[in-house]
Amino acid sequence: MKRIKVFKKQKNKDSNRWLERHLNDEYVIKSKIDGYRSRSSYKLIQINQKFKFFKSSNSILDLGCSPGGWLQVSKKFAPKNSKILGIDKINLKSIPNVQFLQNDIFDENIFNKIDSFFDGKKINLILSDMSPNSTGNKKVDHLLIVSLIERVLDLSNYFLSKNGFLIAKIFQGGAQGDLIKKMNQTLSSIRYFKPKASRAESPETYLVAQKK
Ligand SMILES: C[S@@+](CC[C@H](N)C(=O)[O-])C[C@H]1O[C@@H](n2cnc3c(N)ncnc32)[C@H](O)[C@@H]1O
Repeated sequence: MKRIKVFKKQKNKDSNRWLERHLNDEYVIKSKIDGYRSRSSYKLIQINQKFKFFKSSNSILDLGCSPGGWLQVSKKFAPKNSKILGIDKINLKSIPNVQFLQNDIFDENIFNKIDSFFDGKKINLILSDMSPNSTGNKKVDHLLIVSLIERVLDLSNYFLSKNGFLIAKIFQGGAQGDLIKKMNQTLSSIRYFKPKASRAESPETYLVAQKK
């Protein structure tokens, strides 16, 4: 009985600490002021400041787009009248002039659906900020992350235009070497970039690459 009480107290302390850190976070505060739906929005803004891909991207596919911060950034920085499609398993509160598909990216019809939205044309920019839900088992989590990125690669191999950019979240470690080998077959200029807005303690980083 006592142990449970101690655990509960510890849990409350942890969540209070998390809440305090979240509320005081520079990018959480900025996102409220700027009207962005996620603090992640600043990661994409900073990646673009470095690699400047938006200016040449008038067709954009955002995989794992909810709640919509990256879609808002895409709409703001891409040329006017760009075609933008977001896909997510969970729903999205609509954004004007941005299309949304509620779908798992592993859905077998996803290729057809994307193809029909872009009228069979290639896409200039593919974004993925996805990460799988943690199962608590490190090995399983790692396999899930790898399979997610492999699916993103399959989609980019099919849809990305020559010199088009792929920006994808990845976690450092494990089978990354094999993944990079696979990427080298169809992508060039593969770089890692961790934007300032990505928390230092997070293993996430972003892969930036261009289609050969
Ligand atoms: C970190 S959030 C993206 C935040 C977004 N970039 C923003 O700025 O608002 C990751 C999203 O990926 C989605 N996701 C994860 N696995 C997915 C899958 N297999 N198919 C579609 N969406 C997926 C989750 O539902 C979640 O909404």
